Amino acid sequence: MTQASLMRQITDFANRANPYPLYEELRKTPVLHEEEDGPYVFSSYWDIEALLHDPRVSSDAANLTAAGADELSKPEETGLPPSFIRLDPPEHDRLRRITNSAFGPPHKPRRIDSMRGELADIVTGLIDGFGDARQIDLVDQFAYPFPVTVICRLLGVPREDEPKFRGWVDPVVASLDPDTRRDADAEFRKTAQEARMQLGMYLSSLVEQRTKEPQDDMLSDLVSSHGPDGAMTMMEVLSTSLLLLIAGHETTVNLITNGMLTLLRYPDILARLRDDPGLSANIVEELLRFEPPVQIVPQRSTIADIEVRGVTIPKGSRIWLVLGAGNRDPERFSDPERFDPDRGDIQHLGFGSGVHSCFGAPLARLETQIALTELARRLDGPRLVEDPPPYRQNAVLRGPRHLNIAFDALR
Ligand code: HEM
Repeated sequence: MTQASLMRQITDFANRANPYPLYEELRKTPVLHEEEDGPYVFSSYWDIEALLHDPRVSSDAANLTAAGADELSKPEETGLPPSFIRLDPPEHDRLRRITNSAFGPPHKPRRIDSMRGELADIVTGLIDGFGDARQIDLVDQFAYPFPVTVICRLLGVPREDEPKFRGWVDPVVASLDPDTRRDADAEFRKTAQEARMQLGMYLSSLVEQRTKEPQDDMLSDLVSSHGPDGAMTMMEVLSTSLLLLIAGHETTVNLITNGMLTLLRYPDILARLRDDPGLSANIVEELLRFEPPVQIVPQRSTIADIEVRGVTIPKGSRIWLVLGAGNRDPERFSDPERFDPDRGDIQHLGFGSGVHSCFGAPLARLETQIALTELARRLDGPRLVEDPPPYRQNAVLRGPRHLNIAFDALR
């Protein structure tokens, strides 16, 4: 492994199934900067944690563009303003607060708390749908349809439109990858911009309906919220709902799939979960450390000179935070390469940290706890058909494309 190629190896598909030996190599150079215009890459837990809390490190799409990337977020390219994941305080905080009140308005029980029964019903329906088959693709038959159904219900997006919006979501998600070769590919960028625009137009017709006839869903609440932070503009509603639609399922699918893959590799823990559903909370936290669905946060840049470990990172530099490497940093976790839901301290970086820490974390946790508990309980004698499974191309949102599981019977 040559030092000069480490940064490019992070996005290299050859390392997708098992990036962790590469991360061990990366942590030996905690501030990695291999190419003059390239990013500064951070892989140690404490550095990543500090940078996620540093106000001199910006998520603002405009600063990223100045740092030489991310055309996608320019409003003039897509017709939509950046969503709050790509904004700094105070704009970020205002939009996040309004969204939060739509997620759990103070006058109603929090939406997700009241969804537990509904989530369990969706899971039961999907598992019943395996029918007489004794082999399934967990991704296509369970881990993808489950969170899609949930986020559609939560937002008020018709579930049957999924084939339509999936065609637009795929290129947008692909464009999140900081693949340095593709950054230069005008055709690829154009496809992603058009897809984002199509998604915006699709959502605008739903938002228009909700403006006229509000329903009990988040789109209606986003349109009508008039709290202390005022109202969102129509364009803000669109970019926020687009963020929720994509973030709400493209990550959870990988947590569920990585979760089942890991449990099948650690059958003693799977057996314990079958007998004790109470273990699911710790299992999900340890999964977020051990196999985090978001491996890298590449959308950051410095708005001042900052110093890390004696290295000056000049203002305007692009930064990659490799969460998957920080989560296995031996300076932070003992025996980090072991999947151990009994470890007392699992303060992982799987949901990020600081002002941008995952907005949907309570929902993602609940969905994955219910999903893994029910799969453990109902699949008799589950086993992997191929290990490692085939992976998706994406390095940022990492997970298997298929996970074929054979079993003896359905309980
Ligand atoms: C932000 C991970 C599920 C909505 C983030 C961030 C991470 C993350 C690492 C920080 C990004 C950054 O710092 O730039 C995950 C994982 C999930 C998950 C691993 C599933 C296992 C969800 C769900 C939703 C959601 C279900 C929506 C219902 C968001 C939003 C942000 C965010 C809106 C932006 C927060 C902000 O900028 O303030 N997520 N997420 N996520 N996530 Fe999630």
